[in-house]
Amino acid sequence: MKIKDWYRENKRYFSLSELNFIFKSFAQGKNCLLDKNEVEKLDKIKADKFKGVPLALSLGREEFFGFTFKVNKNTLIPRPETELLTEAAQELISKNSLKKILDLCCGCGNIGISLDKLITADLKIYLADLSSESLALAGENAVNLGSKVKIVNSDLFSGFKEDSFDLIISNPPYVESKNIKGSLAYEPKLALDGGKDGLNLIEKIIVQAYRYLEDRGFLMMEFGYGQKKRVENIIYKNGQYIIKTWIKDYSNIWRGVILQKNNA
Ligand SMILES: C[S@@+](CC[C@H](N)C(=O)[O-])C[C@H]1O[C@@H](n2cnc3c(N)ncnc32)[C@H](O)[C@@H]1O
Repeated sequence: MKIKDWYRENKRYFSLSELNFIFKSFAQGKNCLLDKNEVEKLDKIKADKFKGVPLALSLGREEFFGFTFKVNKNTLIPRPETELLTEAAQELISKNSLKKILDLCCGCGNIGISLDKLITADLKIYLADLSSESLALAGENAVNLGSKVKIVNSDLFSGFKEDSFDLIISNPPYVESKNIKGSLAYEPKLALDGGKDGLNLIEKIIVQAYRYLEDRGFLMMEFGYGQKKRVENIIYKNGQYIIKTWIKDYSNIWRGVILQKNNA
């Protein structure tokens, strides 16, 4: 079967961007012949789509900042809004000549590895996660993308003793437990579940990060829709940081914050 014939038969099931993404994995050229194995793979992707399986999981990869990250059922699929957090970090690192960076709750390593690839200065980037499966994947992604990040198995900061960082960046689990349903059910609960109000991990990170930051160091975090006010309350209650910037996502919704350790 030719790619263009599969395309003609199945294009109504996918968006144009999904089709482009799918065909990147297969032989190039519209007249290219698919072997039996490839047709079976494409049909499985279609069957997965009907079941609601995210396309990235069917293909085993996702694009983030133009880099291809391997993903699987043990880790969160990188989301476009996290690119905006990463972009803000890129700017912050360059402007303030930050050197030692921790990507906490790293998943497949998309934030830390992208920063390492995007910034030419010599950085020391650590990736930490509680899930050993995620760390294995982050390790594979680092090798595939030629990045020399350090990988640490850590329950929040438990894997770090005396370390202090210029920047701690985190996209922690922040979904309210009751909202983990639909297509989210295909991703690990550990990566999503922020407890009853979604803010368990965010609050812990705000409290604990202070000890692991250099003087005037930065903490950046992503949070969920409608959580800004409550995140702000946690920051004020904690009282150890200055709020530098709030970050919006592509839908103009507040989804991230940059804090600076207040040494005053
Ligand atoms: C929302 S995912 C983020 C993954 C990735 N950084 C991204 O932006 O796509 C959250 C990650 O936090 C990890 N995690 C959950 N609880 C943790 C904990 N107590 N300590 C460290 N990592 C944790 C999960 O395993 C998961 O990889």
